[in-house]
Amino acid sequence: MEKEFLWGAASSANQMEGAYNVDGKGLSIADLALFYEYKDRLKLKKELSLDDIEKLKDTDGNFPKRRGNDFYHRWEEDLELLHQLGIKAYRFSIAWSRIFPNGDDVNANEAGLSFYENIINRCIEYKIEPIITLSHFETPLVISEKYGGWNNRSVIKLFLRYACVVFQRFKGKVKYWIAFNEINAALEIPYKGSAIPFANNAHYAQAVHDGLHNQVLASALVAKKLHEIDSNAKIGCMIASFLTYPLTCAPPDVWKALNENRSYYLYADMLVKGFLPAWYRMDLARQGIEITLSEQDLTIIKNNTVDYISFSYYMSLTASSSQNQNKGNGNLKGGVINPFLEKTDWGWSIDPTGLRIALNDMYDRYNLPIMISENGFGSIDVLEHDGTVIDNDRIKYLKEHVKALKAAVEEDGVNCFCYLVWSPIDMVSSGTSEMRKRYGFIYVDADDYGNGTYDRFKKKSFYWYRKVIDSNGEDLS
Ligand code: BG6
Repeated sequence: MEKEFLWGAASSANQMEGAYNVDGKGLSIADLALFYEYKDRLKLKKELSLDDIEKLKDTDGNFPKRRGNDFYHRWEEDLELLHQLGIKAYRFSIAWSRIFPNGDDVNANEAGLSFYENIINRCIEYKIEPIITLSHFETPLVISEKYGGWNNRSVIKLFLRYACVVFQRFKGKVKYWIAFNEINAALEIPYKGSAIPFANNAHYAQAVHDGLHNQVLASALVAKKLHEIDSNAKIGCMIASFLTYPLTCAPPDVWKALNENRSYYLYADMLVKGFLPAWYRMDLARQGIEITLSEQDLTIIKNNTVDYISFSYYMSLTASSSQNQNKGNGNLKGGVINPFLEKTDWGWSIDPTGLRIALNDMYDRYNLPIMISENGFGSIDVLEHDGTVIDNDRIKYLKEHVKALKAAVEEDGVNCFCYLVWSPIDMVSSGTSEMRKRYGFIYVDADDYGNGTYDRFKKKSFYWYRKVIDSNGEDLS
């Protein structure tokens, strides 16, 4: 691997910080995510309507993302631990609602800006490259309530204002930016991805596509602004990899898989190539959905594409043309069960070769530098009496994925410059808001209900990853 390769880790504000109403922060859509046990996941209501929002806002339910892992109060200790881990890059998000509590306030909240400034400064002191996501499933709630979410075009201006404030403030300090985490969540889970309240009416589908198109336009406008404000900084797009295999070589299965794959590449097509593919336009027309972007908008999108691509990779999916196959679980969406792959406790398939395929596919298709912005293993970890966690399964998962990454880079010539493990420290799960679904190298003593000391403990994988980083990926033992 290149000497400058960025070995790192990634997190998000809404899963880490807690302190949801401290120092002027406003509510975000994530602050309304109720805890559900995994076994009850089918009851999990992901798409909140305006009525749901109204009810949830003032209840005292179990909202784990309001607590996070208490990073807001422990950030110094946590960054010291990341320094000891030896990471070269740390991806985190800024909570828009810490900077503009309602999204549309006149003035930025200085307490929010200085919180992130301290983190960035400390990263630089520790020679950790900060990588910042502007929006990671944590849009200010008012954007949802008052504006109806991203399908309202005026949200673009508000987002741009927020982006410009942080670009100006952190100019020269932050080289890598991402506008939206997993922008493909916009169509899969519109409330979380685009802050659009669910509505059981004929306009909802149109609103969801408008929301995505506005986010694509906002990404292009943000890229333009960043390049004007800080010509050394780079902006990437970020998509969740839904790499999909056909269950069999029967042509209808292959056709099904092809369609699944291009419907996830769609987002990179728009942000890297700068156009809406023909099949997608035809598909929208068949559904009676209009593309409300003007010719001028499309030119902006075309002229302001991203500098690099990033994607999260946890698993591959499998598609079948038959309705009668058993369905599997997955990140944002599931497929049918792949009989060749083992699964995590949450039913996500484990497929390191899929990472090599995804990297090659992505590089062949777009020929841009690639950042793996998330890859990790969610499991139930047990804190031993001596304060350690023996997380051999996590080490095994990461080891095999790092091997696949190295093969893609060293044998296939893929230009991947950064690998970020989800996550450095245990935090609240995005999907189910569980605390017991842990990804970190560092254990946090907290349960699903907020009980515990929130103290930090290094897991066995902490020492393993430190060795990988120290040896620049040579020592995976
Ligand atoms: C990604 C998200 O989709 O998956 C992260 O960007 C999330 O925020 C990660 O934590 C893992 O998902 P989960 O639901 O297991 O936390």
